[in-house]
Amino acid sequence: MDKEFILEVKKKREFSQLPDSVVERAISVAGEDIKEVRSLLRKYFGVFLTNKVLKGKGIEILKSHKSSMHREYGPLYELIFGKMGDVGAVVDLGCGANCFSYELMPKGINYVGVEAVGQLVDSANRYFKEGGFESAHVLHRDLFDLEFILKTLKQMPKPRAIFLFQVVDALENLEKDFSKKFLLAIGEESERIVLSLPVRSLSGRTRFQARRKWILDFIGENFETIDSFETNGERFLIIKNKFFWGLFLNKVF
Ligand SMILES: C[S@@+](CC[C@H](N)C(=O)[O-])C[C@H]1O[C@@H](n2cnc3c(N)ncnc32)[C@H](O)[C@@H]1O
Repeated sequence: MDKEFILEVKKKREFSQLPDSVVERAISVAGEDIKEVRSLLRKYFGVFLTNKVLKGKGIEILKSHKSSMHREYGPLYELIFGKMGDVGAVVDLGCGANCFSYELMPKGINYVGVEAVGQLVDSANRYFKEGGFESAHVLHRDLFDLEFILKTLKQMPKPRAIFLFQVVDALENLEKDFSKKFLLAIGEESERIVLSLPVRSLSGRTRFQARRKWILDFIGENFETIDSFETNGERFLIIKNKFFWGLFLNKVF
């Protein structure tokens, strides 16, 4: 891939802090038309690319972003953490603004977010520092860097809970079927995955429903569902690796 072209795309300030690998993938999907590439990047990373969405401070920011604004975090986390029992660490993949809900999680919990948008990562880490939240930070990485994600998971205390809220769509649109490989791999390195999907889409209804069925069937075949519930336009699934031996070995060693 032409490095010059990646740099050209990143010349516009809003894209300047995206990892090169993310821009490279967008180029491989959209072709070498700079307008198309930027429009694709805006579609999946756009809202966080300007600091405008990071209005307010800490948990106030949750109210200004589309994915988190309708969530009632109090009851939602009560349900999620209640179902999971003991949690050693939360790893929030594609965390976006959700990292600002840290204060609403069980006090002092180990938290690592992974996010491609550098502007958001800086703002989140500033928030953790100013709030004295020493057990929380966000890493600036591309989720397609699976080796890095697995290494990060390995370093976290067990039982590890992965949050994958409204991220599958972005992964699938940048590489078809990547989320299958991704879910199987992270399932091996975690004790729980909490995944969320939007219940409705404003556009492309048929494609949206087909994808939703596809992901739910895949989860049914490969994971055990601990709980599944719908709240405020979002379906949450708490799942774990189906294979008893994997879990057994995790516990013994
Ligand atoms: C729809 S938002 C959801 C944000 C958050 N998980 C929530 O539900 O509140 C998707 C997030 O995933 C991030 N993202 C998408 N693809 C990514 C990638 N390849 N690497 C890292 N982050 C990514 C986006 O920047 C964005 O913050």
